[in-house]
Amino acid sequence: MPANAVSGDPMMNKIEIKNLNLRYSDGTESLRNISIGIPQNKITVLFGPAGGGKSSLLRVLNRLNDLADVTLLDGEVLLDGENILTPKTDVIQLRRRVGMVFARPVVLPMSIRQNLTYGLEVAGIRNKVQLNEAVERSLQQAALWDEVKDRLDDPAGAISGGQQQRLCLARVLALEPEVILLDEPTSGLDPISTGKVEESLQALKTQYTVILVPHSVQQAARTADHAAFFLQGELVEFAPGKDIFTTPHDQRTADYVEGRFG
Ligand SMILES: Nc1ncnc2c1ncn2[C@@H]1O[C@H](COP(=O)(O)OP(=O)(O)OP(=O)(O)O)[C@@H](O)[C@H]1O
Ligand SMILES: [Mg+2]
Repeated sequence: MPANAVSGDPMMNKIEIKNLNLRYSDGTESLRNISIGIPQNKITVLFGPAGGGKSSLLRVLNRLNDLADVTLLDGEVLLDGENILTPKTDVIQLRRRVGMVFARPVVLPMSIRQNLTYGLEVAGIRNKVQLNEAVERSLQQAALWDEVKDRLDDPAGAISGGQQQRLCLARVLALEPEVILLDEPTSGLDPISTGKVEESLQALKTQYTVILVPHSVQQAARTADHAAFFLQGELVEFAPGKDIFTTPHDQRTADYVEGRFG
């Protein structure tokens, strides 16, 4: 095991990443020999300066790199012990288990309700009671229910940016994935909406495994159960709890956390 890998109880890890390398076709080595265990029912934060490979890693976890210009992808990503990087992985099924929320909310040009039921209907669920339950549950979990419950049939594009971002989170939650990937989900939000998203993440981890790329070190420190510091494709340091923000072991982590670069 590489020195920077964290040995924990692998039985507790929802995802086990082993010796992962990713290179884009222009030669960029965006991930270099990454090994990390993602514990179940925790918020694991991936943080570090631009270009570190955080988004690349999230994309590997639900195989979005299949659509990108990748020339080399090796190593293993075990989800509940099964390697998702093999050709026999059902990618559609994988993306139902591992949902992703992006930095910019992209709502579908439909009503608020339809944004939430669409994916379920595609999956064959037609039962009205079941669909209504999913709408309320997912909006509650995304801390948006109180704000939109009286206008579920309004166009989703008519709500504020912060509400749209929570709707995108709710859309992922409606499908009840096992893992939620969030790539700077609050980067475009005001502090109040940001606080609401952070609050809902804390509640969600009882049911889901959450992997968050935060938009700042401060957000990383507020939200992390475990934190991993990425620098230029390398996993510099990974530690449970908030230790990395108070007592980092690597000088590069310390410099970044204390704002000396980045
Ligand atoms: N599709 C792509 N083709 C070629 N190079 C890419 C591609 N996507 C990312 N890269 C490169 O891979 C490296 C890691 O990028 P990535 O977006 O994963 O980093 P990041 O940590 O998410 O950065 P940021 O904080 O800016 O979002 C960078 O050098 C980036 O330019
Ligand atoms: Mg990124």
